Amino acid sequence: MALIKEGVVYEAIVTLLAGSEPYATPVGFWRLGDEVLIKLYKGSRTHSLLKTVENPVLNVTRDPFLFYRTAFKSESNGLTREDFIIDEEKGVAYLRNAEAYILLKLIGVVEYEHYGLFKYGILEAREGAVRCVEPYTRCYSSLIEMIVYATKVKAWRDLAGEELEAALRSIEDSFRVVSKTCRSRDYLVLAENIRRLVENWLRR
Ligand SMILES: Cc1cc2nc3c(=O)[nH]c(=O)nc-3n(C[C@H](O)[C@H](O)[C@H](O)COP(=O)(O)O)c2cc1C
Repeated sequence: MALIKEGVVYEAIVTLLAGSEPYATPVGFWRLGDEVLIKLYKGSRTHSLLKTVENPVLNVTRDPFLFYRTAFKSESNGLTREDFIIDEEKGVAYLRNAEAYILLKLIGVVEYEHYGLFKYGILEAREGAVRCVEPYTRCYSSLIEMIVYATKVKAWRDLAGEELEAALRSIEDSFRVVSKTCRSRDYLVLAENIRRLVENWLRR
């Protein structure tokens, strides 16, 4: 079962049904009393879609590939319909390979200049199909860090100066940890792909 403590920002993948199409994106979230909050920058498709969705789901996972495919949908193969469990009647989509699900109910959105703050109630928290506990590994967390900063380089077209340097430094620092802690070729290839995407975005 997912444990969501107050005072911690967690990362998960939010899923939703847009019409009959499932959609998934990595987000940070935190709990405040009985509410769950998600801050979404304007301009992302997820920001506009979530405004129209009553019951999104937070999918708990540590799989770097799921983060990669949902953060960079067009640059990767993205997800297929088979990656989701879809309940059209309830208007809810889940990731098939998540460790746990937190089903949300929209309370409201507060729009600020650059982002919207989405407030939700928790309808249900339950286990997913992946139930074994895997020890903490810096391999996954470093890959996910690389993906986080890569999304910043991609989204902030005019990211410049110190902010850009800090993002690139974080990507390289995490890449070094990936090189030490990920032994399987798939993860190393993933890290190289993220680096390549970043290089391409810098050339825009
Ligand atoms: C682990 C992780 C957490 C993220 N958290 C957020 C977040 O809380 N808010 C946000 O606006 N973007 C966040 N992002 C970036 C979005 O996932 C990214 O911009 C995504 O490409 C947006 O997809 P879309 O254009 O399909 O909406 C996060 C990315 C990762 C990898």
